Order: sequence, then C-alpha cells, then structure tokens
Amino acid sequence: MEIIIQPSGEAAAKIAARIMARLLREKPNVVLGLATGSTPLLLYRELIAMNLDWRKVTTFNLDEYVGLPREHPQSYHNFMWENLFRHINIAKKNVHIPDGNAKDIPKFCAKYEQQIRAAGGIDLQVLGIGTDGHIGFNEPTSSLASRTRIKTLTERTRRDNSQFFGSEQKVPYHVITMGIGTIMEAWQILLLAFGPKKARPIAEAVEGPITSMNPASVLQMHPVTKVWLDADAASRVQRADYYRWVCE
Ligand code: PGA
Repeated sequence: MEIIIQPSGEAAAKIAARIMARLLREKPNVVLGLATGSTPLLLYRELIAMNLDWRKVTTFNLDEYVGLPREHPQSYHNFMWENLFRHINIAKKNVHIPDGNAKDIPKFCAKYEQQIRAAGGIDLQVLGIGTDGHIGFNEPTSSLASRTRIKTLTERTRRDNSQFFGSEQKVPYHVITMGIGTIMEAWQILLLAFGPKKARPIAEAVEGPITSMNPASVLQMHPVTKVWLDADAASRVQRADYYRWVCE
C-alpha cells in the first residue's frame, strides 16, 4: 500500500486525476471501476476539466441501491450521469452500473461478473471508504472473497447516507455491490478518503490487522493500491511522518 497524504482533498484529487488521465492516454480502451458518494466528486470534477477522450473507455460502477428507480435523484445511475458521464464523451453502451431493479438479482450479479471478465478485467478501481470501513457496499463481516451480490446495509451506513436522502427512513435497506473478491482483482486501486470521519477507518485499514470487521483492510493484500488522504483523514495513522517522507 502506498499512503499519500496531501494538505487537502482538492490537492489529493488533482494528483489522482492526473494518474487516471495518464492511464487514459496510454490505454484509450482502459476499463475503470468507479465509485459514488461525496468523496470522488472532486476527482470527477478534475477529470471533466481535463477534456479527455473517453470514447473507448469502459466503466463498471461498484454498487447501486435496490428498488430505487433509475431516475431517482439518489440512485447511483443518476449520480454518475449527473456528476461525470453527461460531461464527457463516453459511449453509453460502455457504461455499466448494477441494476437495482433487476427481476432476478443473483442472475444479474453473475452477469455483471461475467461482463467485467469479458472486458478484460478492471485496470483501475476508484474506491471511497465508509465510516465503518466498507468498500463498495461491502459492510463489516462481508466475506473477503465475496463476489457481486445483494447486501443489507448496516444502520450506520444508512445513517451516514441519510444526508443525501433527507431522512434515514428514505434510505433503502438493500444494495447490489461488487464483492471484495471482485474489487481485489482490479489491477490498480486508488482509495480516496477525506475528512475527520474517515480518520479511524483509515488508520484501522492501513495499520490494523486484516479483518472483515474493516473490509478496506484487505487492501493490504493488494499489490498496487494507492491511498490518497487529506490531513484530517490521515490524523490517526501512526506512521504519517514516514508516509510523508517517502512521498517527498
Ligand atoms: P462518502 O462515502 O464518499 O460519501 O463518504 C464513501 C463510501 O461510503 O464508500
């Protein structure tokens, strides 16, 4: 794991966007794994401003709420089109987001896994982290070998996400998420975490034991993971001086 501490989320997102832009130029048909939530917004803003050529890019999103209409303002379909896709020249057919309204969810999930394989696997996966250490919507105690499937959100995640829905009651209980095993097969991973609420889950994920109680800790086993932090999210890591020194 490479831990990169920047003074602000803006600074971290700028450099992370540059890494993605380089990859897009080197491999125009790159396969990206994308994330939603407040964290990647800065990154997407940077990428939009770079005017890159996305015509041959394929994307797979991590997760989606079950039962929320696609056009619902809080669906991740809507989030991705509003915050990234409608601002770039990506081909609609190359965009993949789990279908939270699939009639046969296990069948849909198996197909999603198959589509990722058929695309040649994910070259670069963008991740955020939940306050409980989740990646995608793989909540604590998720199997570290899990594949794309339906999951039930924890109370804590529903509380965290109620800020987007206006109230906790409106947050769906179920989601479809790529599994941890699926995420671990990405060639490269960029995890972004900003703000003081991420300090504890980040310290546990980066310096604690590998445990399904903090799903992000499994990334210690991933060979090419970069963790981008702002000063607040890095405030509880014990070896911050070392990480800063290595990056100089
Ligand atoms: P956030 O969510 O970016 O809205 O903090 C991150 C996550 O739940 O993965």
